[in-house]
Amino acid sequence: MPWADDTTMVVYYSWKLHTKAYAQELASITNDSIFPLEEKSPRKGIIGWIKGGYQGLTKNHIEVKSLPVISAEKEIYICSPVWASDITPAVRYFIKRMSLKGKRVNFLLTCANIEGQDKYKKNALDALSGKGCKPGPVLVFATGGGEAPDSQTIRRQLEDMLPQPL
Ligand SMILES: Cc1cc2nc3c(=O)[nH]c(=O)nc-3n(C[C@H](O)[C@H](O)[C@H](O)COP(=O)(O)O)c2cc1C
Repeated sequence: MPWADDTTMVVYYSWKLHTKAYAQELASITNDSIFPLEEKSPRKGIIGWIKGGYQGLTKNHIEVKSLPVISAEKEIYICSPVWASDITPAVRYFIKRMSLKGKRVNFLLTCANIEGQDKYKKNALDALSGKGCKPGPVLVFATGGGEAPDSQTIRRQLEDMLPQPL
């Protein structure tokens, strides 16, 4: 695989660990560094779910514990679950706070219902509006209920869909 240089970073938010599994596999395939976005207040239970849906719908952003240094990166993969057909508030905060100018920004989204993927892609790309970055592909994967797929399955899915490196 020609992914060897050190100019791409994988950044992810994951509540129930499905997106984390995809982000980790992605970083492993591409030899990239990986950075987790963690909400300051832990999200719990049904209240966390309801708030999450509302926050997705209203395009809210939520502060995270820390942000990565991305000045040397040419390309960023932003990995997020889909909430209310949109990116998550922690990811929206990352986009709002970081300078993404000139960088290629790709998304990896995980969702329950793949049929909505055109809408998820549009909403993710809209979030980059005004950031001066180069929007790249938006990869969408349906995770279904239960546990995340095993790493071999995720790797196969990713290798089928990943664009060539810069
Ligand atoms: C608050 C909330 C809203 C969601 N909204 C959607 C949605 O609009 N469409 C969809 O396909 N999946 C939706 N889901 C399902 C998640 O996108 C899916 O389970 C995802 O893989 C979870 O990622 P995680 O395990 O990394 O948190 C929603 C989940 C939550 C918690």
